[in-house]
Amino acid sequence: MTRREFIKASILGAGLIYSGVWVGACSQATVRKNPLYVPSDQGGLLSYYIPSNRFNLTAKKAVFEIISGKQTNMFVYTVEENGKTYYNPIIVIRSGKDFAVNFLNLLGEESIVHWHGFRAPWKSDGHPSYAVGSGTTYSYPQFTIIDRSGTYFYHPHPHGRTGYQVYNGLASMIIVEDEDEDSIKSILDLSYGLTDIPLIIQDKTFSADGSLIYNPLGMNGNMGFWGDTVLVNLTTKPFLEVERRIYRFRILNGSNARPYRLVLKRGSENMRFWVIGVEGGLLDKPIEVREILVAPGERIDILIDFRDANSNDILRLYSLNHGLVDMGGGGMRGMADLINREFEILEFRVVSDTTYDRDIPKSLSTINQIDISSAKTQDVILGMSNGKFNIDGLTWNSSDPLADYGYNYNNKDIVIFRITNNTAMYHPMHFHGFQFQILSRQNSPKVIRDLAIDQYGRMATDLGWKDTVIVGPNETVEVAMDMSHSFGEEQTYLLHCHILEHHDAGMMINYRVKA
Ligand code: C2O
Ligand code: CU
Ligand code: CU
Repeated sequence: MTRREFIKASILGAGLIYSGVWVGACSQATVRKNPLYVPSDQGGLLSYYIPSNRFNLTAKKAVFEIISGKQTNMFVYTVEENGKTYYNPIIVIRSGKDFAVNFLNLLGEESIVHWHGFRAPWKSDGHPSYAVGSGTTYSYPQFTIIDRSGTYFYHPHPHGRTGYQVYNGLASMIIVEDEDEDSIKSILDLSYGLTDIPLIIQDKTFSADGSLIYNPLGMNGNMGFWGDTVLVNLTTKPFLEVERRIYRFRILNGSNARPYRLVLKRGSENMRFWVIGVEGGLLDKPIEVREILVAPGERIDILIDFRDANSNDILRLYSLNHGLVDMGGGGMRGMADLINREFEILEFRVVSDTTYDRDIPKSLSTINQIDISSAKTQDVILGMSNGKFNIDGLTWNSSDPLADYGYNYNNKDIVIFRITNNTAMYHPMHFHGFQFQILSRQNSPKVIRDLAIDQYGRMATDLGWKDTVIVGPNETVEVAMDMSHSFGEEQTYLLHCHILEHHDAGMMINYRVKA
């Protein structure tokens, strides 16, 4: 029996679309584990979907069986094509191709889809001013994919409901391919769903009847949602059988608020792995690491060489206490266990020897550094007042979604955003519209400082092209962005925190770039 046959993926009248629970015998006496759900290209959950044309993407209600024998009401994106149904499809597309979607909202509340990481014209970017009511379609103007090969992210973006809708299931990946991607795929002999595997990591809390509980912590939810159960590809307590060879894992932190401090453990030993890509695609070369920090919204592509382990070894992808929220005072202390908790994320069972003679490549791609010699600097101050996080003291004006926040630029401007966090909580800051490069980190908290690999205080996951950057308590991070575009009119994009409850509560502003 293969791994995939363990998974029951059935469609019932009510729309039970996924059951990730393996009810067979278990090799571990105490903790029952479930085989990690890994997609195929044959339809079903997270199935790889290659659009050939404009396609129809519908968001609707669905029932999942995530906990054995319990039904969980959730939301899901679907594509129906060639007699197949794709749920939260992983969209695979070539750089240079056109991308066009008709989005039909059947959620019973407003929504719009954002293609997180894509350099898209703003009318196709899912700006909340384009949210459509239930029963309504938004036809995205077609645009050309100009992004590099890598792992992108799509999710809802209606103002005030993003956290709730993502939590309820609306989140998946877009994989962009180009020549760099062709080359790593052939050098390492990788294939989707077998040795190139998505790991969408999310935390949720289930009630006894299997329904999802959404209860963000803190005053008016200002600490964000922190679940007590970690899922990978919606599988609880997952394991994956691996051969002694190199695998690629595309990690997406699709959690609302929780960062993961990932290590790969064999017993108490931290094994090595390689970072090969971040949000904006492949790095110039693989970087060997033993720990990475992955904040909500970030995508980190890694390689693991299971020849470092022996047959029958058990390795564990584990998240350590990240210590990124200052648990100093009063009521905060009671949340410490839930927030700073350590988790096992995924167990790898090394099953067999195989003939495999490929090695970690020396180079992957070319990163052209942004020329910052004539850059202007924009200070961005992250603060809090009246129990709400803000940017420069400003919060989103929901009665005027196109409001001007004073962040106005010309086409081709090079801007250095100097982001300073004056709060006790980390914030993963995300820009729509353009990818950026991280220049430096100062005054970093220990968990980030310990991962620095260069004199600028940057971590391995800070290199290359990024769209989301974690900014720790009291830290200052400088990022450079080139605002060149050829979209032919003024663009209105967002800058916001990717802790979705901060984003929903208004830790978000517009910035504009002229034609
Ligand atoms: Cu992934 Cu505006 O967000
Ligand atoms: Cu985005
Ligand atoms: Cu935040």
